[in-house]
Amino acid sequence: MAGDFGTRFMPQMSICHYDGGWSEEQLVSSDSLSIHPAAHVLHYASTCFEGMKAFRQADGSVAIFRMDKNITRFDQSSRLLYLPDMDTEQLARMITSTVAHFRDQVPDAPASMYIRPTHIGTEPAIGKAAARSDTSSMFILLSPVGDYFSGGEANLRLLLDDHGVRCGPDHGMVKGGGNYASALKHIERARVSVNADQVLFCPGGDVQETGAANFILVDGDEIITKSLDESFLHGVTRDSLLTLARDRGLTVSERELSITELIERSAHPGCEAGLTGTAAVVAAVGTLIHDGAEYLVGSGKPGPRIRAMRDELNSIQWGHTPDTRQWLTVV
Ligand SMILES: Cc1ncc(COP(=O)(O)O)c(C=O)c1O
Repeated sequence: MAGDFGTRFMPQMSICHYDGGWSEEQLVSSDSLSIHPAAHVLHYASTCFEGMKAFRQADGSVAIFRMDKNITRFDQSSRLLYLPDMDTEQLARMITSTVAHFRDQVPDAPASMYIRPTHIGTEPAIGKAAARSDTSSMFILLSPVGDYFSGGEANLRLLLDDHGVRCGPDHGMVKGGGNYASALKHIERARVSVNADQVLFCPGGDVQETGAANFILVDGDEIITKSLDESFLHGVTRDSLLTLARDRGLTVSERELSITELIERSAHPGCEAGLTGTAAVVAAVGTLIHDGAEYLVGSGKPGPRIRAMRDELNSIQWGHTPDTRQWLTVV
């Protein structure tokens, strides 16, 4: 797996600023962000971001996967953090023009260009602990990323945590920095205590999501995953995989899944589980850890159903199968 994911950047980014209205976007050096040490974001976490990818297509062109859906989620995160309203048309233009500017640097699949739009509250006002930032900056960073599975197929160990929470229960659908900060202590503890790769947050026993991905259980022809509510992030990959599964005639059950049912079903031969997200599409889960006991999911090894789901989505992303749902924006 790519340990250095997101550590290299294109030399320039697109940026614009809000101060009563949005400035024209500019292409500037990617390390030239100047903010006051009192900026709202640095103290009160007024920050949200997105993560999507541009892929080199089979015909050599470059396309962004589900840009519209990511823009909608970004806009929603900004609103829920009371950051200045974004101009989504300007945002779309900034994303497509920045990717177009670095079109030649988009690597061939399975590598890709990761796109990180970010919106931060910049008002220098440490007295605004309980008030919104009236100014902000929004920028689009690009980071070429390799094949997530270059080190071998994932086979993750998840700690099922029914005590800790990732974030405030009404804040999960915000892709905001504060949520990742509050999840971290649980994840670090799980790494040290049981050598877990991730924590699967299960508040009150209800299986929700991990710190950076959604969770799916694949048992026979049924895919089970939590139905959308405001407690967790509405993954674009989750939505895409469920759409493809429905079209294939699989049963998609968006509903509550308890830890008890998850552990019972995991013992079924052929049962598979996965973490879904932009970075990997879907990564297989081999082991669940709960209350000091370990449970294999099916055989405990990556299985064919998760692999097939990933291949099907990759094939659309890479332009190997027709994009019948208009998920790609060619730049
Ligand atoms: C908390 C969380 N849940 C779910 C996801 C998956 O979302 P997506 O499929 O849009 O990448 C992410 C990915 O960034 C995440 O950080």
